[in-house]
Amino acid sequence: MKAVVLVGGEGTRLRPLTFTTPKPLLPIANRTFLERQLEWLGAHGVDEVVLSLGYLPDAFRDRFPGDQVAGVRLRYAVEPEPLGTAGGIRFAAEGIDERLVVCNGDVLTDLDLGALVRFHEERRAEATIALTRVEDPSAFGVVPTRPTGEVIAFVEKPPPGKAPTDWINAGTYVLEPSVLSRIPARLNVSIERDTFPRMLDRPGRLYALRSDAYWLDIGTPEKYLQAHADVLAGRLGRPPVPGASERCPGVWEQGEVDVDAGARLEPPVLVGAASRIGPGARIVGSVLGAGCVVGPGARVRRSVLLDGARLEPESEVIDSVLGAGALIGAEAIVADHSVVGADATVEPGTRMSGARVHLPAPPH
Ligand code: GTP
Repeated sequence: MKAVVLVGGEGTRLRPLTFTTPKPLLPIANRTFLERQLEWLGAHGVDEVVLSLGYLPDAFRDRFPGDQVAGVRLRYAVEPEPLGTAGGIRFAAEGIDERLVVCNGDVLTDLDLGALVRFHEERRAEATIALTRVEDPSAFGVVPTRPTGEVIAFVEKPPPGKAPTDWINAGTYVLEPSVLSRIPARLNVSIERDTFPRMLDRPGRLYALRSDAYWLDIGTPEKYLQAHADVLAGRLGRPPVPGASERCPGVWEQGEVDVDAGARLEPPVLVGAASRIGPGARIVGSVLGAGCVVGPGARVRRSVLLDGARLEPESEVIDSVLGAGALIGAEAIVADHSVVGADATVEPGTRMSGARVHLPAPPH
């Protein structure tokens, strides 16, 4: 089975991380998100994936130089300009004349794709959408269905309390090739706002399957942190970090790490290879990438540090994300879903809450 994965978005809500790294190439618990997704697709019988992209294409080629990842053959369809979700699918699926799986490149899930395809076949649907239930559907595309699963409507971002159901479009689809011919070529078109709603003018074409599988859109700093917490809690499978050694229950290390005897690590914690944690430092419920440095007395709580991020002595990072090579000066406090971009510096003694910090001229 072939799949198209949509990875062309700029990931604006995760800036400044996404100024330098496209969202699908950000790590989740020290493993590239897209690699996780390709493995999931491969495990469900997908043997070829076309990446539909345009934003920072070289970053993808650099990360996956070969044409095989996790047993899946990889191809690239680089859009001349952003074509939206439907336009991107149409462009990427050029020359494909068979049933296709499509997924957003920013959804962490263990959805049973095989069950979605079987449901699609049983209904003889033209397109089938996976649905997931969320507590507050007001930020999503809500999809009410009949008992048979046939889609009744698409309600985009309903006002709080006004949604007809809690079930939302989970961003995974099974499409017959005829759906592709409904998408105009080389135009910016959205599948969820244009193509699917138009298909409702005749019954029997569009179905949706409700799923209770794990599902998370990783697209905001809060959700990106949540994804890490969920992986470490084993919600996406066990062991949470394959290949890592468990220093004590819930504290994993990858390769050689240097943890001072006077440092405290409170689970769940993942420490990437060659990281150093100094005396009196405290790491609580966090992930450190490879080559990170946490200086003496520094504290990291419920946060994510990408490779090579550094904390100088007595600094503190709480509920925040540090990009690769970011530097937090001594006694600075970075808190409340702050995001520090790659190689950016927070000056010593600074206090910031919900901040975005990046180098003066993002390479964009
Ligand atoms: P935000 O800017 O933070 O909203 O993130 P985003 O750019 O990823 O947008 P959104 O979350 O709405 O996109 C959903 C999925 O579609 C993501 O996997 C994006 O990579 C992808 N996507 C969005 N726009 C395009 C596009 O124009 N072309 C392609 N190929 N993919 C897109």
